[in-house]
Amino acid sequence: MKPSSRSTVLALSGSLRAASYNTALLHAAVKHTGGATDFDIYDRLGRLPMFDQDLDNEDAPREVAELRRRVAAADGLLIVTPEHNASIPAALKNSIDWISTPPAGGILPGKPTAIAGASPGPFGSARGQLALRQILTSIGADVLAKPEVAVFRCHERLDEGGNVTDPTTLSLLTDLTDALAARIAAGRVASA
Ligand code: FNR
Repeated sequence: MKPSSRSTVLALSGSLRAASYNTALLHAAVKHTGGATDFDIYDRLGRLPMFDQDLDNEDAPREVAELRRRVAAADGLLIVTPEHNASIPAALKNSIDWISTPPAGGILPGKPTAIAGASPGPFGSARGQLALRQILTSIGADVLAKPEVAVFRCHERLDEGGNVTDPTTLSLLTDLTDALAARIAAGRVASA
């Protein structure tokens, strides 16, 4: 933890798609969150090799080492993800596998983590988020229970430029990042 009151949140989208709704929501959350949070946007999910336990050691591939370093340096995580086939996208699961194993150095347990997601469908990635919550909780990440941010019919809430036009969605996103900042701050007080 840093001694200063500022905190760093690693922000990551579970979508590799250039025009991703979820990446747009992630950027909106970063843009509209005020206060003492600095965001480190991680956009190299698609560059990670597929998890291979034979490569999972102190000399892990460069991209893996970079992800591990950035997660370790962050006070918290913000993950905004689509739902793929009622679960999380393979690229996101792959990244979590790489940061979950002993050579990653125990960087996830206790890490304050906020999750959100969007879908053009009626459930707003709720099943994907349930799967993500189960995965992260099993590793010991400190996943926020509330607010739940499942942006259904998301195509109606952004304009063509990826700007969020729906005030409720914006406010839910900033409520989520505020809750994450509060959880990080509470952890600092408890460990002081
Ligand atoms: C989807 N999509 C989808 N949507 C949903 O609500 N539930 C689902 O289970 C799935 N499954 C699914 C599988 C695969 C392989 C793809 C490619 C898509 C649709 C998905 O929500 C939609 O493509 C979103 O636009 C993806 O999010 P991004 O990339 O726009 O952030």
